Amino acid sequence: MEAKDRLIFPLDFSSLNEAKHYVGLLKDYVGIFKVGLQLFVAEGPRVIQTIAEDANTKIFLDLKFHDIPVTIKSAQKSLLEDYIKFITVHCDQGLRLLKAIAGVSDRIKILAVTVLTSLNTRDLIDIGIDPNLAKDPSQLVLKRAEVAYRAGCDGVVCSGLEAKEVKSRFGRDFIVVTPGIRPQWGLIADDDQKRVVTPYEAIINGADYIVVGRPIRDAPDPRAAAQKVVKEIEQALNDLKLHY
Ligand code: C5P
Repeated sequence: MEAKDRLIFPLDFSSLNEAKHYVGLLKDYVGIFKVGLQLFVAEGPRVIQTIAEDANTKIFLDLKFHDIPVTIKSAQKSLLEDYIKFITVHCDQGLRLLKAIAGVSDRIKILAVTVLTSLNTRDLIDIGIDPNLAKDPSQLVLKRAEVAYRAGCDGVVCSGLEAKEVKSRFGRDFIVVTPGIRPQWGLIADDDQKRVVTPYEAIINGADYIVVGRPIRDAPDPRAAAQKVVKEIEQALNDLKLHY
């Protein structure tokens, strides 16, 4: 994989036109475009094929499924396998559900969302997580990653702070996708992301892919910002080669 292939840009827009504009602008520097709830709900499932054809790559469909097994399996069977590379499900539905959906498609990879990077200790305690686990969200991430691994998921979504430990416990082939990326030059005012790392740190820690949204989208020159992120990824990959 080239450095560029590891950069995922979330198309967090409410219209196809805006999304297409950013695909056109960024496709030379972005490996995978992510379609999430915002665009999917606004434009409907056809958006997947349209974006995949425009970008000439498969899509990361990030709907973060959370429901009973039969419902998720049925939804999964309706997905357009030709256009989708990854889908996401929440880990906290337990081993049985993750197992049921991990076997549905050979072609679409399942990523389990461990703990949202926007959650901190206080939030986790408020929703009933044991304070001993919540005081170090990384421990909860690792516990959930283990469930995803045992269920046969292809990988997890976790913060860059846990990427290294996930890789060392579950092996190189277990995919790690890391959102909550904030380059030193791309901090966001009133940021909702809490457990953040830079692109360089995420890759050094073992992330296979990084999701970078607002630091690119809101930059004065989004193309230049994406190019800068790819350079950071490249630098980290080179440093990894030197050290390991
Ligand atoms: O870089 P930025 O914060 O703008 O990225 C936002 C994107 O990352 C959104 O599409 C959101 O769904 C995704 N995200 C995620 N998992 C998290 C945090 C954010 O997939 N834990």
